Amino acid sequence: AAPEKFRRPMPLLPEKKPVGRAGKSDVYVMTMKPARAEILPGLTTDVLTYDGHFPGPVIRARSHRPVVIRQRNRLTVPTAVHLHGSSVPADSDGDPMDVIEPGTDRVYHYPNRQPHAPLWFHDHAHHLEAENVYRGLSGSYLLTDPAERALPLPRGRYEVVIALRDARFDAQGQLAYAMGDRGRNTLLANGVPYPYFQVAARKYRLRLLNASNQRRFELRLADGSPLIQIGSDGGLLTAPHTTDRIALSAGERADVVVDFSRYPVGTSVVLKNTTGTGPAEEIGEILRFDVVRAAPDPSRIPGRLRTLPPLPRPDTERTVVLRMDEGGEHPGAYIDEKEYDPQRVDARVKFNSSEVWTVTNANARAEHNFHLHLVQFRVLERAGRPPEPGEGGLKDTIHLAPGETVRLQAVFDSYRGRYLYHCHMFEHGVRGMMATMHIQ
Ligand code: C2O
Ligand code: CU
Repeated sequence: AAPEKFRRPMPLLPEKKPVGRAGKSDVYVMTMKPARAEILPGLTTDVLTYDGHFPGPVIRARSHRPVVIRQRNRLTVPTAVHLHGSSVPADSDGDPMDVIEPGTDRVYHYPNRQPHAPLWFHDHAHHLEAENVYRGLSGSYLLTDPAERALPLPRGRYEVVIALRDARFDAQGQLAYAMGDRGRNTLLANGVPYPYFQVAARKYRLRLLNASNQRRFELRLADGSPLIQIGSDGGLLTAPHTTDRIALSAGERADVVVDFSRYPVGTSVVLKNTTGTGPAEEIGEILRFDVVRAAPDPSRIPGRLRTLPPLPRPDTERTVVLRMDEGGEHPGAYIDEKEYDPQRVDARVKFNSSEVWTVTNANARAEHNFHLHLVQFRVLERAGRPPEPGEGGLKDTIHLAPGETVRLQAVFDSYRGRYLYHCHMFEHGVRGMMATMHIQ
């Protein structure tokens, strides 16, 4: 049964502070450890956490100011920390085989030589990442830069990170995990099922993350009011895009402004989800915004948010085909008909080159999505048409409906080495839908 809705407030994610500086870098120390959370009323749930928080904290970083994080693994399983959407040296990318053994530490270096972007970090240990992330190992990393900060967008308490995901709980309140589980129907916002969130009657900037293992969301306000999308995975769009829905597949982010001044103080509006499988009373509503006070609103959404550099002429084209066996007890999942092998290089990419990748979901019924490490790319075409405005900015993860093909272009000019590309539906990746590119 679904927990009663809108009974608890949505918490704000705690902000992680550096312990100090070393040279130009901000230094953080984070401990991965087990914890207990009260997620369902009256029950405690065992979770895996960064620093005891479910979900993990928010790190605020600035472009061109490096971050160094000492990750202490105090869990009983190996971990690897991947900063999703980042451009970092290969030995700090959290490669599946490059794990932190229990009881040991690992220092990750994040140079932040990239523009502002809503990044996030999560576990990536080989064969364990799906369950590790499901049990709590994810957090947010908001990278900002002077161009973003100069815009008069809502900020401070009016800029709110909302990490969405689904989960399944057993009768004791424990997170139930099974590889092929299609019954994860309890929706959490910042770790709380169906919370309410009190807002002022003014504009808010919502930094949305889909941290689900598999579920795709299609978000709408219940009264059909507009959502103003201003950013995606790789930061701001070139211009705001007014829409009635925001779709987020697993791992994707959206930056959305909602103007609550259209609602009288004392009224509410529900954030709905209008896609996916599960009982409507469990998956149809996510959280309720309660408009509780008036507030001045000096914020503004400029008509022009950023300029993106023109794409160079591509040097290479390649195709990538995602497919998995449908049905069977241990369905295989493949990229170009091969299961992931950490020893193998699947794509050799020339450093400083630009490539167009034509990525196809070869399944007739199953959804996939596609994530490239290291780069923020541009979508050139989806199903033969130019991308929708919400997908026209910088992206690192895209949805692929059954049978769909997306053409994207990336420039590989930051680091050399081995990096992953994969379906971000974690259980598909664990089953083999993951591959390695070597930039050299
Ligand atoms: Cu967010 Cu390889 O992952
Ligand atoms: Cu997939």
